[in-house]
Amino acid sequence: MSQVTANAPLRAGVVGLGWAGQQHMAGYDALGGVELVGLAGMEEHLLAELGSRYDVPGRYTSLEAMLAEANLDVLSIATPTALHAPMAIAALGAGVHVLCEKPMAPTAADAERMAEAAQAADRALEITFNKRHRAPARTLHRLVADGVLGRVYYAKAGWVRRKGIPGLGTWFTRKESAGGGPMMDIGIHALDLALHVLGEPGVRTVSASTYAEFGPRGLGGGSYGVGARTAGDTAVYEVEDLGTALLRLDNDATLMLEASWAQFVDHDRFYLELFGTEGGARIEVEGPDAPQIHVTTDVDGIPANLVPDMLPDAGHEANVADFVELVRGGSGSHGEVGLLRTHVIDACYASADQGREVTL
Ligand SMILES: NC(=O)c1ccc[n+]([C@@H]2O[C@H](COP(=O)([O-])OP(=O)(O)OC[C@H]3O[C@@H](n4cnc5c(N)ncnc54)[C@H](O)[C@@H]3O)[C@@H](O)[C@H]2O)c1
Repeated sequence: MSQVTANAPLRAGVVGLGWAGQQHMAGYDALGGVELVGLAGMEEHLLAELGSRYDVPGRYTSLEAMLAEANLDVLSIATPTALHAPMAIAALGAGVHVLCEKPMAPTAADAERMAEAAQAADRALEITFNKRHRAPARTLHRLVADGVLGRVYYAKAGWVRRKGIPGLGTWFTRKESAGGGPMMDIGIHALDLALHVLGEPGVRTVSASTYAEFGPRGLGGGSYGVGARTAGDTAVYEVEDLGTALLRLDNDATLMLEASWAQFVDHDRFYLELFGTEGGARIEVEGPDAPQIHVTTDVDGIPANLVPDMLPDAGHEANVADFVELVRGGSGSHGEVGLLRTHVIDACYASADQGREVTL
C-alpha cells in the first residue's frame, strides 16, 4: 500500500478508456506533482494510443493487474456503471484513493457499500459531478449563495434530448450494466446541479414516472457511446428513455426534474431555472442555447432582465484538481454527496415502479 507524502508525486491510474476516462487522463496530465502511471481498459488500440499520448508506462487489460503492479496512490474509475462498486471497493481495499464517475452506482445499496469501504480503508472517495464547473452553473451558484434571488422556493432542472440515446444496444441501455436510463445517466447531473446551487437541501419525497417510447422500437439513438458496441451487441433496450419527477425538499421548496434521451423536444437542453422571493434565474448548460444565464428581478421597482457576465468555464479537470487537493490535504470524503444523489435516483425508480410518492 503506497502512502501519500507531501513531496512525492502522486501515482495516478485510470480504468476505462472511453470519453469519460480520457477526461480524467487529461486532468491528471495537466497537474504538477502527479504522474499518470497506469491505464486499464479492454481496447488494446486505445491502450496503445492513449498510453503514448500521455506517456504512461503501465498499460493493463484489467484493474486487478494495474492494482497489483502500478503501486497507485489514486485511481479514476470510468467504466460501465455496474463496475463502479466492485472496482472502487477493490481499489479502496488496496489503499488507493478513488475518484469515480457519476452515477456512483446503479443502486443506493451498492453506493452504500462503496462509502463503507472508503470509511473502513480511511481513503478518499469522490464522485465526478463535472457539470457544476460549467460557467453558467458556477455563476448561478455564486448569485444564489450571495442571496441575489432571495429565498428560492421553486426550481426546475432537466436534461432533455431529441435523439440522444447513448450506445443503443451497448451497456448503456441494459439494466444490469447501466442501472437505468436518462434519469440515472443525465438526470443525476441535473439533480446534482440543482441541489448544489440550492445549498444542499435534503430531499423529503419523490414522485416520479418513467417511459420507454423510443428505445424499445430501436429509435432515438444518438452518436455518443457507439464506440462501446461489441460484436455481440443487439438492440437490447431495458431502461426508460424519459423520466420525470417532483421532489419536495426539506426547506419546503419544490424541484421538478426531467431527463430524456429521446423525446419530441424542439432542441436539446440541459437547464436549471430558479424562482426566488427577490429574483428568478435561468441557465442553459448544454445544448444549442448554452452557455447562457439570465436573471429576472426588480431594479428600483422596475422589472429588469439581466445578463450577468459568467465566471470562467471548467469541466473534469476541475474535479480532478479538487480530488488531488483533497487527497494531498488528507481530508476525509467518503462519497457522501454521490450517495445522497444515488438515494434520490433510487427513490425515483421506486416511485415510478410503485406508482406513488416515496419518502426518503
Ligand atoms: N461525467 C460525465 O460527464 C460523464 C460523461 C460520460 C460518461 N460518464 C460516465 O463514465 C462511465 C464510462 O462512460 P463512457 O461513456 O466513457 O463509457 P465507454 O463505454 O465509452 O468506456 C468504458 C470503458 O470501460 C472499459 N471497461 C469495461 N469493462 C471493463 C473491465 N472489466 N475492466 C477494465 N475496463 C473495462 C472499456 O474497455 C472502456 O474503455 C459511466 O459510468 C458513465 O456514466 C460520465
